[in-house]
Amino acid sequence: MFKKAMLCAAALAMVIGFGVAGNALAQDKGPETIVLKTAKGKKPALFPHHNHQARLDCKTCHEDSNFAKDANSWTKKQGHALCKSCHKKHKADGASTKCSNCHKKGLK
Ligand code: HEC
Ligand code: HEC
Ligand code: HEC
Repeated sequence: MFKKAMLCAAALAMVIGFGVAGNALAQDKGPETIVLKTAKGKKPALFPHHNHQARLDCKTCHEDSNFAKDANSWTKKQGHALCKSCHKKHKADGASTKCSNCHKKGLK
């Protein structure tokens, strides 16, 4: 009886161990939502990161030449070339090119 319990405990520890290792190896998906800004920060844009990951390949954005290196160093040109142009193409899928769709009020 005792031996059986030990075996069960060992098996459980292995399952948990692999679970933790598996998580550590999983890809870093980054923040769920991100506020994008230019150096001036006059018109921040909301970017629902995980929502986009559900339908797009990571490299669609991360390897595009219009992708800024960090969330605070975007230019209008980059933002509109990457984000707005895709929204224009995907109106039928519910994407919007209305200014307030991305430049939501009250963002900082
Ligand atoms: C629609 C565009 C888009 C898609 C698709 C996308 N990302 Fe991102 N991701 C961004 C933006 C914008 C940022 C904000 C930081 C920046 O400007 O570099 C970001 C930031 C990140 C960060 C934070 C670290 C950093 O570089 O600032 C990680 C990690 C990340 N993304 C991983 C992923 C992974 C993994 C996938 C695919 C499962 C993915 N992203 C898909 C646009 C995207
Ligand atoms: C490859 C195409 C593509 C790119 C690139 C892209 N989007 Fe989108 N986006 C979509 C589509 C399609 C939708 C509508 C469907 C949805 O909400 O999942 C959407 C929806 C949104 C929404 C509304 C989501 C909501 O929950 O109301 C915002 C805000 C948004 N995108 C901002 C951005 C910003 C900012 C960028 C650039 C960093 C960006 N998107 C890049 C395709 C794209
Ligand atoms: C699909 C998302 C999206 C839509 C729609 C959109 N923009 Fe942008 N815009 C961005 C992103 C991303 C940036 C770069 C980061 C930031 O400053 O918000 C940007 C930057 C800007 C900037 C530069 C802000 C600064 O600090 O210098 C202006 C001005 C601007 N947009 C105006 C507009 C206007 C006006 C509209 C509507 C006609 C519009 N945008 C629609 C995503 C969008």
